[in-house]
Amino acid sequence: MGKLDNKIALVTGGTGGIGTAICQRLADDGAQIVTTSLNQEKAKTWKSSQNFDSTIIACDVSSYDDCQSMKEQIEKDLGVVDIVVNNAGITRDGSFRKMDADKWSQVITTNLNSVFNVSHQFVNGMTEKGYGRIVNISSINGQKGQFGQTNYSAAKAGIHGFTMALAQEVARKGVTVNTVSPGYIATDMVMAVAEEIRNQIIAQIPIGRLGKPEEIAALVAFLCSDDAGLITGANLAANGGQHMH
Ligand code: CAA
Repeated sequence: MGKLDNKIALVTGGTGGIGTAICQRLADDGAQIVTTSLNQEKAKTWKSSQNFDSTIIACDVSSYDDCQSMKEQIEKDLGVVDIVVNNAGITRDGSFRKMDADKWSQVITTNLNSVFNVSHQFVNGMTEKGYGRIVNISSINGQKGQFGQTNYSAAKAGIHGFTMALAQEVARKGVTVNTVSPGYIATDMVMAVAEEIRNQIIAQIPIGRLGKPEEIAALVAFLCSDDAGLITGANLAANGGQHMH
């Protein structure tokens, strides 16, 4: 018996570094996995290299209309979604003096508006069922800010405001809403930071290493389980001690 047997879990951006680990862990715990992808070729290759079954839906989470079509497809083919992990995200780093309006809006739209676009489709299904789990993946840099990330830090901080507000609205309906704030995790996104800068960042992590995607996935799986029914509106940090608050 898995802790998430008979649950349908939607993980946005599930083909990425942290997303893949979350899909794998929720599948190991018994959930049926649905994920979104912008690139169908990449998604097919990804699916064939995983040892669990999944449904991949072409969806740009920055588009409300795409998210609405995604919901209709999932409900037609599979049923009502029990778990939403808002994980999809991008970086467009640059110091503020070099930050143009495109970099700003791409990151706000993809990382923050997506949390509204996706959650809005599924919250009613959850409250009607009297059960649901929403986990929003933020970042240490939404908590402490980061040189070169005014856009990303703003979006990631905004995510937790959303979490706290929605958590209050749905608390009596058996739905929890939480934020997970990973620190620097060994994924392509972090490896894209220049090596010298990345090494300076690693030197600031008390445990002395980058996090592993599986370490974030384990925390997400716990929040999705029945054991975590008391936790809502929380922002759980997993950053190796780099930021404590
Ligand atoms: N604090 C203070 N000053 C800094 C600084 C810092 N952290 N970093 C750079 N500077 C200074 C430089 O010394 C330089 O000073 P001078 O002009 O006096 O020489 C100046 O700022 C450079 O400014 P530029 O506008 O020219 O910046 P740049 O183009 O050289 O680099 C950057 C900007 C690409 C954003 C680079 O700073 C960078 O990569 N920073 C790291 C960003 C980061 O951590 N991204 C995380 C990506 S992963 C992720 O986001 C996942 C997650 O959730 C953790």
